[in-house]
Amino acid sequence: MSSMACGNGICRLILATTAATILTLSAFPSVVEGRGVLHDETADFRPHALANVYSNPVIADHILADPVVLRMNGTFYLYSTGDVSREDTPQSGMPDGMETIIFSSAEARRAYASSSPVNGGRTDCGYRVFVSEDLINWRRGPVVFAPPDHLCGNWAPHVWHDKSSGFIYMYYTHRESVGVARASSPMGPFENAKMLVDRAIDPFLLVDDDLGLFLYVVNIPQSHISVQKMVSPTELDPNSTAKVVLEHEDIPWECHGGQINEAPWVFRHNGTFYMLYSGSFFNVDFYAVGYATASRPDEAFTRNYELNPIMHRTDTVHGPGHVAVVYDDANEPWLVYHQKMEAVKMGQDRRICIDRLVIEPDGRLAVNVTRGENVVGPLINSSRIYPGPEMFLELEAQLAAL
Ligand SMILES: *[C@@H]1O[C@H](CO)[C@@H](O)[C@H](O)[C@H]1NC(C)=O
Ligand SMILES: *[C@@H]1O[C@H](CO)[C@@H](O)[C@H](O)[C@H]1NC(C)=O
Ligand SMILES: *[C@@H]1O[C@H](CO)[C@@H](O)[C@H](O)[C@H]1NC(C)=O
Ligand SMILES: *[C@@H]1O[C@H](CO)[C@@H](O)[C@H](O)[C@H]1NC(C)=O
Ligand SMILES: *[C@@H]1O[C@H](CO)[C@@H](O)[C@H](O)[C@H]1NC(C)=O
Repeated sequence: MSSMACGNGICRLILATTAATILTLSAFPSVVEGRGVLHDETADFRPHALANVYSNPVIADHILADPVVLRMNGTFYLYSTGDVSREDTPQSGMPDGMETIIFSSAEARRAYASSSPVNGGRTDCGYRVFVSEDLINWRRGPVVFAPPDHLCGNWAPHVWHDKSSGFIYMYYTHRESVGVARASSPMGPFENAKMLVDRAIDPFLLVDDDLGLFLYVVNIPQSHISVQKMVSPTELDPNSTAKVVLEHEDIPWECHGGQINEAPWVFRHNGTFYMLYSGSFFNVDFYAVGYATASRPDEAFTRNYELNPIMHRTDTVHGPGHVAVVYDDANEPWLVYHQKMEAVKMGQDRRICIDRLVIEPDGRLAVNVTRGENVVGPLINSSRIYPGPEMFLELEAQLAAL
């Protein structure tokens, strides 16, 4: 059953769907031609852009890395390293509004992607937001944060919506120090609040209902992971000290190009704290993700030696890493992360990808990393699921008659 709803020049396909129809999508490979296309709701209605089948990378046309995703009011907001040049952040303020790029086909999208400049000047001079309703189709939004000193070197932000105050806090890296900024909208602007930790990168804030707030960072130059309790979103607990919770170990997958542990992401499942972390130098093909567990967020985490790394290079996937966890409407966890586009050492060309995180009944974590293949995407209740080729033709006819 489906129907059209139109208003403001915008039409939406309203489709009654079930889990069964979602799963059959993978049986229609032709559907995905153009899937992943960024759609502009103020322009033409493009039902073919709305299928919840995806193939990685989901943001193919911008070089981005180290993502974090916030969901507010049903909408996903992604912040990452990359795509902010000096010119994007004049001291007078942060310009540019929402920009939507529509590609007529997957080929057009790939062609655009391959022509994007790689390493053509610094692109880490602040943070930009990308917006999505379904984790698959993304629109490029404005720059939302630029550091007060107007210097570049902003990587791997973390973002949290504090429902009690209504503010959105952004934990950012600026020239190898971690600070916090605050906004009243996910679209920014984020105003700098204060620096929190010197000589650190990759902040992650754990918000635990029982135990409070914990700020994890990666200390530089050691590249190990430490945590400190916070008494508010902007204040470290003065009565606690930072504690290293993931020490280096001489494990081959964590030592390619340097002995590096970074990008912590911590969540609680069934009474256990899980830390997903990346190992090796981010620029190498061997960059990978493993996990460790603990019974408290501020005690040493124990690696899962048997399963690690749970995400690593394959014949088609290069240097997958720096994960963020986000939940779909079935409450299933998804990883948003980056892959390198090339295997070559030192390649900086990274793009945003998503894949499902599976928590097995026995508590073990598993991920299949994918690139370029068609995969059934997250379950998003409001998403307008593509119903199949016949329905598509019918819809086009309905649209033509409007
Ligand atoms: C949340 O979404 C609803 C429905 O689309 C909208 O009316 C409301 O203004 C949104 N609230 C915020 C804070 O964006
Ligand atoms: C730190 O400890 C002192 C002495 O016990 C106490 O008075 C103070 O309230 C504590 N501060 C915080 C932020 O917990
Ligand atoms: C939770 O952990 C306990 C103890 O390890 C295990 O017996 C149980 O099956 C787990 N439950 C779930 C829902 O994962
Ligand atoms: C999404 O829809 C499913 C199936 O109708 C329902 O079980 C689930 O609670 C919904 N989730 C949200 C977040 O609305
Ligand atoms: C990975 O893919 C295999 C083959 O399709 C499948 O059997 C397995 O369940 C998948 N695992 C995860 C974690 O998605």
